[in-house]
Amino acid sequence: MSGLVELDGLEVDLRVGGSMRPVLSGTTLQIGRGEAVGLVGESGSGKSMTARSIARLLPEGAEVRGSIRFDGTEVTSLRGADLRAYRRRIAMVFQDPRAHVNPVRSIGDFLTEELRTNEGVPRAEAERRAIELLDVVGIPDGARRLRQYPHELSGGLLQRVMIASALLSEPELLLADEPTTALDVTTQSDVMALLDELRRERGLAMLFITHDLELAGAVCDRTAVMYAGQIVEEQAADALYTDPLHPYTAALVAARPDIDATAARLAAIPGRPLSAFEAPPGCAFADRCPFSEDRCESERPALMPIAAGSSRCLRAEELRGRLHLTVSDV
Ligand SMILES: Nc1ncnc2c1ncn2[C@@H]1O[C@H](COP(=O)(O)OP(=O)(O)O)[C@@H](O)[C@H]1O
Ligand SMILES: [Mg+2]
Repeated sequence: MSGLVELDGLEVDLRVGGSMRPVLSGTTLQIGRGEAVGLVGESGSGKSMTARSIARLLPEGAEVRGSIRFDGTEVTSLRGADLRAYRRRIAMVFQDPRAHVNPVRSIGDFLTEELRTNEGVPRAEAERRAIELLDVVGIPDGARRLRQYPHELSGGLLQRVMIASALLSEPELLLADEPTTALDVTTQSDVMALLDELRRERGLAMLFITHDLELAGAVCDRTAVMYAGQIVEEQAADALYTDPLHPYTAALVAARPDIDATAARLAAIPGRPLSAFEAPPGCAFADRCPFSEDRCESERPALMPIAAGSSRCLRAEELRGRLHLTVSDV
């Protein structure tokens, strides 16, 4: 699979008060054409900032180092018309659709504005395309929907509208940032099924962000696990469960509620997740890791290839095959 997106050693600092605070500290990740990659990790680990870096939607004053390549082009230095052209090749769907629409503008205005103002498409034609896309995302009677306002639509319907809007520019990459987290469970699975179907039909690559390991596994080819602003493991989605390569992944797997397991086997990860700016000089997970040794506190591990994936653990080779068996018993 050829690379569409390549993040290499991506570092992002944000301005907090008067100083700069790291939120990504060396994120390395590839997404192939048409490939679905899951990005999982606890809240604050840097998942959204990774997606926003790719979309060039970081907060004002952000400092970016390292590289983001899209289809061979460096994205971090794009400006003006090149940046606008790039943005049409990617689309983003967010957790809370209501936060991303203007409540006093109709669904029709929302869906056709870009086409009408930036591409000069006449209103009737833009509306025809919008209705077609609403049909694609499973919303019949599009003409009526175009005249409605966001508050008249349920969360699930509104998220479908957001997905339709994301498809308007026929992007090659979809950045889906917890697109179903705010929805009820039934709607969640409908929206997931829709994303999955659209992606396959259109050969779209997707970065699917979630804190739900299972959900990532269900729709993604590969999963990357994020901790304190870094990817700590990356491999085929199903292998995460049977053969985790990093103690943090093993702990996430063990902590996940499993209807087949007895309650006694539910293990919580001790301590709290760290953000990148709090990370110690060595391994960021060391103070919560049941396998940590002295050197883990001082030596920062690199993301190294192991088996068919990669792991950012000094002991990855040595612990291989033992992680999923032992971590839940610690
Ligand atoms: N606008 C901001 N300014 C400063 N820090 C921020 C901002 N947004 C997020 N952060 C911090 O960046 C880190 C990563 O956040 P984020 O990428 O949103 O995490 P996730 O999506 O994995 O929950 C967190 O420590 C968060 O507090
Ligand atoms: Mg987030």
